[in-house]
Amino acid sequence: MQIHTIDEIGDVRGKYILLRDDFNVQIVDGKITDAFRIEQSMPTIRRLVAAGARIAICAHLGRPDGKIDPNYSLKPIAEYMKIPLIPDCLDKSFLPGMKDGEIVLLENVRFHAGEEEDNPEFAAKLAAGFDIFINDAFAVSHRAHASVVGITKILPSYAGELLASEIEHLSRVMGNPNRPLLGLVSSAKIKSKIGVIKAFGKLCDKIICAGGIGTSIRIAMGMTNIVMDEGNLEKSWDDAAVKEQILEIMRDYGDKIILPLEKGVGPAWEKDVPRVDKMMGDIRPNDVIMDEGPASIIEYERAIANAKTIVWNGTVGMAEWQPTWSIGTFALARYIANRTKAGELESIVGGGDTVAALEATGTKDDMTYVSTGGGAFLEFIEGRKLPGIVALEKA
Ligand code: 3PG
Repeated sequence: MQIHTIDEIGDVRGKYILLRDDFNVQIVDGKITDAFRIEQSMPTIRRLVAAGARIAICAHLGRPDGKIDPNYSLKPIAEYMKIPLIPDCLDKSFLPGMKDGEIVLLENVRFHAGEEEDNPEFAAKLAAGFDIFINDAFAVSHRAHASVVGITKILPSYAGELLASEIEHLSRVMGNPNRPLLGLVSSAKIKSKIGVIKAFGKLCDKIICAGGIGTSIRIAMGMTNIVMDEGNLEKSWDDAAVKEQILEIMRDYGDKIILPLEKGVGPAWEKDVPRVDKMMGDIRPNDVIMDEGPASIIEYERAIANAKTIVWNGTVGMAEWQPTWSIGTFALARYIANRTKAGELESIVGGGDTVAALEATGTKDDMTYVSTGGGAFLEFIEGRKLPGIVALEKA
């Protein structure tokens, strides 16, 4: 697949460029806690600034459902980048005053319902006044939204450096992976990951299903001592259709799937409660599961030691609740980093929480490739065509 890239644009001095970035980052108390996506977007931004373009960055934060919601304002991001924030992405009054090499950030594009509907009129309003569109937002390229897809029907459109680099790296590793290929998928909820597990079933030689996913599979397979109530987050295992899908996965790929053996549990869904590690058969209905236990981690490390490539998405516990509930995730991050550094493993990691765990353990630079994508990363790995990339394909 060939796509149009920024390398084809030519001279951009004085040109008005609408640049789509993914700045959907974690913000706590008005402060960005993980700027990885922003930092990875900087090469394209710096290149356009140096070339004298007039750049408006379009981005989203969270899911404000087409309504203005100050909780999802991009203000903290504009402050972090030290650039002006335009309070409405459809406001064009700033354009005539822009100088070459200047850059602004447009307020959350998802404050308009037309964005997620891929409404052509909204896309036309967004495009008005710009000469060129650049998509550098790999992480949202699996969404057929107006600022990702619709806009490419209006403006000459190209991939930025980050988008091109994600495609190149992920295609190279997944096109002909060094086998055995191990998938490590973990999430609190299995419902949203059924498709991923099935795709990994076809693609991978082994799959670790950790976290709530692994627990849900164990329950669907007949483990009756664990109650997945509100504390344990996942209720969808009780949904007959989900249960049927789990059983189907186990019928088709059960021989490849590695499940948890032991969990770290506490008395309540809280950061500062005491931890006890229990084998899964010993967990009682009032235990709240918040991490993988040592026996699970040893089992997972054994699988990693046998793999030549690992694709990892999802922390295996409440990794942000350090130090008690991050033990499992951090142990795996360090183990994968060490195998990679030793040249024994190619490690491909994606997903916001997983990348945050790499940052916390100082292992991010040790991995073979860290993607900015979460859902987009998984869909790409699954071999699905992402609408934002298809929109940039050469005829
Ligand atoms: C992400 O964080 O994975 C992307 O920004 C997409 O966000 P979304 O799942 O809300 O569309």
